[in-house]
Amino acid sequence: MILVTGGAGFIGGNFVLDWLAQSDEPVINVDKLTYAGNTDTLKSLAQNPAHVFVRADIGDREVLGKLLAEHRPRAVINFAAESHVDRSITGPGEFIQTNVVGTFNLLEAVRAYWTDLPADDKAAFRFLHVSTDEVYGTLSATDAPFAETNRYEPNSPYSASKAASDHLVRAWHHTYGLPVLTTNCSNNYGPYHFPEKLIPLVILNALAGKPLPIYGDGQQIRDWLYVKDHCSAIRRVLQDGRLGETYNVGGWNEKANLDVVNTICSILDEIKPRADGAAYASQITYVQDRPGHDRRYAIDARKLERELGWKPAETFETGIRKTVQWYLDNQDWVGNVTSGAYRDWVAQQYGA
Ligand code: NAD
Ligand code: TYD
Repeated sequence: MILVTGGAGFIGGNFVLDWLAQSDEPVINVDKLTYAGNTDTLKSLAQNPAHVFVRADIGDREVLGKLLAEHRPRAVINFAAESHVDRSITGPGEFIQTNVVGTFNLLEAVRAYWTDLPADDKAAFRFLHVSTDEVYGTLSATDAPFAETNRYEPNSPYSASKAASDHLVRAWHHTYGLPVLTTNCSNNYGPYHFPEKLIPLVILNALAGKPLPIYGDGQQIRDWLYVKDHCSAIRRVLQDGRLGETYNVGGWNEKANLDVVNTICSILDEIKPRADGAAYASQITYVQDRPGHDRRYAIDARKLERELGWKPAETFETGIRKTVQWYLDNQDWVGNVTSGAYRDWVAQQYGA
C-alpha cells in the first residue's frame, strides 16, 4: 500500500480518487483537515476498504511512526501543505509550521521506518515530495521557462516555505540515503479546487453575481495544468523516477490572468447565460495587487517527457471547459465547502 498526506485537499484528493479508480493497491490517507481539507471530496470512497482515512498532522512524528509501523507502506507521497500565497502573506506562521517543520518531522518518521525495513523493501521504498514551480521565483516575459537547474529564488512566504521543504528532502537523500523524488509543478486547476484560488473563485463569483477580482493589471502569467495530468505525472515519477532527482511538471499552457478570467466568462456565457443577458465579463473588477506578486511562471517539462515519457493529456481549452462544467454539476460540494456547514460538520464529527 501507499501512504498519502494531504489527501483531502485539492490535488491529494484528486490523486487518491484517480489512484483507487485505477488500482487495487490500498491508500492510507493522512490529513489534518485544515480549512482546505474536505472529506466530502472523498465521499465516493466511503464504502471502499482500500481507502483508510486518518486525521493527523504530518508534524506528529509519534502518530506517523505508529501508522507507518502498522500499515508498512511501500511509498509515502507528501501533498500536505499550506498552499495559498495570499494566506501566507497575512499569516506566514502556519506555512513555516506545516511546510517546513511538518516536512522535517515527516521525513524523520519516514527515515526511522525505512531504516529498519528488510533489504528488499528498503530498496523499493520511495518518498515522493510534491512541490511547486514557485520555488524558482519569477520570470520576465522573455526568460526561458523554469528548468530543474534553475536557482531557487522564492519570493513569497509560501514559496520560501516550500523551497525549504525541498531542501530538507534533498538533504535527507544525500545525508541519510532516503530514496526520495521531488516534483515541482505549475498552477493546477480542475475539480475539488478550494474556491479561494483564482479559477474556482471566478467561476463561483460569476455565478453568484459577485465581482471577479483581478489583482493589479491582470497581466501576470501562470502555466496552467489540469489536475489529473499532475496526478498522472506523479504516478509516473513514483514508478520510474530516478532517486534523488527533481522533475518539473507543466502543461505548456501559459496564460495571463485576465485571459483566464475572460475564457471562464465566455464559457459561462455559452453554457449558463446570465438571466439579464449581460456578459459575465462585466463583473470583472480590478483590485489592489498582491504584495511581491510574481509576474510570470512557466515550466520546461522536457526532462519528464524525455526520461519518463510523460505528457499532459489536456490542453487549457479542454481542461477549463471540463472544470467549469464540474462546478456547475457539483453545487453540493461547493455549498458544503463555502457555507460553513462543512466546518460545523468537522467539529461535530471529530470533536475539538
Ligand atoms: P490544498 O491546500 O488544497 O490541500 C492541502 C491539504 O493538506 C489539505 O487537505 C489540508 O487539510 C492538508 N494539510 C495541511 N496542513 C497539514 C498538516 N500539518 N498535516 C496534515 N495535513 C495537512 O493544497 P493543494 O493545492 O492540493 O496542494 C497540494 C500540494 O501540491 C502542496 O504541497 C502544494 O504546495 C503543491 N502544489 C500545488 C499547486 C496548485 O496549483 N494547487 C501547484 C504545484 C504544487
Ligand atoms: P492563485 O490561484 O492564488 O495561485 P498562485 O498565486 O499560487 O499562482 O492565483 C493565480 C493568479 O491569479 C495569481 O497571479 C494571483 C491572481 N489572482 C487574482 O488576480 N485575483 C484573485 O482573486 C486571486 C485569488 C488570484
